Amino acid sequence: MTVLLAGGAGYIGSHTAIELLNAGYDVVVADNYSNSCPESINRVEKITGKSVKLYELDIKDTDKLEKVFEENNIDAVIHFAGLKAVGESVSKPVMYYRNNIDTTLSLLETMGRYNVKNIIFSSSATVYGEENPVPYVETMKRGVCTNPYGWTKAMMEQIFEDTARADAELAVILLRYFNPIGAHESGMIGEDPNGIPNNLMPYVSQVAIGKRECLTIFGNDYPTADGTCTRDYIHVTDLAVGHVRAVDYIIKNKCVEIFNLGTGVPYSVTEIVETFERVNGVKVNHVYGARREGDLAECYANADKAYEILGWKTERTLEDMCRDSWNWQKNNPDGYCK
Ligand code: NAD
Ligand code: WQD
Repeated sequence: MTVLLAGGAGYIGSHTAIELLNAGYDVVVADNYSNSCPESINRVEKITGKSVKLYELDIKDTDKLEKVFEENNIDAVIHFAGLKAVGESVSKPVMYYRNNIDTTLSLLETMGRYNVKNIIFSSSATVYGEENPVPYVETMKRGVCTNPYGWTKAMMEQIFEDTARADAELAVILLRYFNPIGAHESGMIGEDPNGIPNNLMPYVSQVAIGKRECLTIFGNDYPTADGTCTRDYIHVTDLAVGHVRAVDYIIKNKCVEIFNLGTGVPYSVTEIVETFERVNGVKVNHVYGARREGDLAECYANADKAYEILGWKTERTLEDMCRDSWNWQKNNPDGYCK
């Protein structure tokens, strides 16, 4: 069985490639390296001892994408290829809508041409919007998103649902990720952000190693136990295994399903910093600052459905997430390619 990972050289795609290869799937990756580099896939091959067929291309370019379907017998596609920086999406909305929506249309058109009927999509907890109460359940309606990035995910979910409604043979799984952090236990692959990290864990790691002076914790006056925001942090390897379960399932079931991929357990920003310091024996300089616009006080999953239907639940602890993030940062202080 062959799985095409669109955007597979990135953070979540590369970890998923390892778990798919370990589970016996063949993996084809197509990526334009706009936020990654081929070295991640070289390392996937080293870790697994298996080879990955790699294409450098823009998924929006249907002529080039056709070649991938022509040359490989693709059984399922996982669509990771997207731009994901929330702040950048506010200043460059057209770039985000163009890239994220067009990659999706391009994949669906090409799959249609080659009669490939299984697709899994990287969606996000952000589609629950501001109105729904936590914990988020898949049966809730999509909410009002707070930024263009979030809207691209909500729109793409709609596009997949409409396309599946029109084609009874098309199987779709929308995976709503919560907050993926951590890295492969080998320390050989991990998250490699460009420039100043937007997300918490890469920022914490870069402060710990001395690349950044100080972490600003955005707000300590939220209605949470310690006043800082809480999130459902999930180890990227647990998330990757969730994709393998989704592929196993979609190949056997003609389904249209949504699954939350989270732990169901929220942790605060202060708890993340304290756990990172304790587990790794390092100091993370931090100050409390103003709230960041658009942040919700709390965000966490009800993770029951993925367990009931896919038989998947997370296995790694917050300590594992902090240890593995640091291990990756220590071994690769400048990421893959810099
Ligand atoms: P990432 O940036 O590391 O990976 C995305 C990959 O897609 C990159 O390798 C990039 O080069 C590639 N890409 C982007 N546009 C492309 C295009 N037009 N053609 C070919 N390749 C293209 O991000 P990630 O953290 O691995 O996220 C993967 C997916 O999961 C994204 O769609 C993201 O929105 C979604 N997601 C991520 C998070 C998170 O916190 N990391 C949370 C929820 C959802
Ligand atoms: C986590 C917590 C911040 C940085 C984003 C997207 C979401 C999804 C995951 C893709 C928050 C706090 C952060 C810092 C801080 N991505 N923080 N200081 O905002 O929960 O989710 O990534 O789909 O759509 O919105 O993640 O890692 O940015 O923040 O205090 O320097 O850490 O306020 O409470 P977020 P994050």
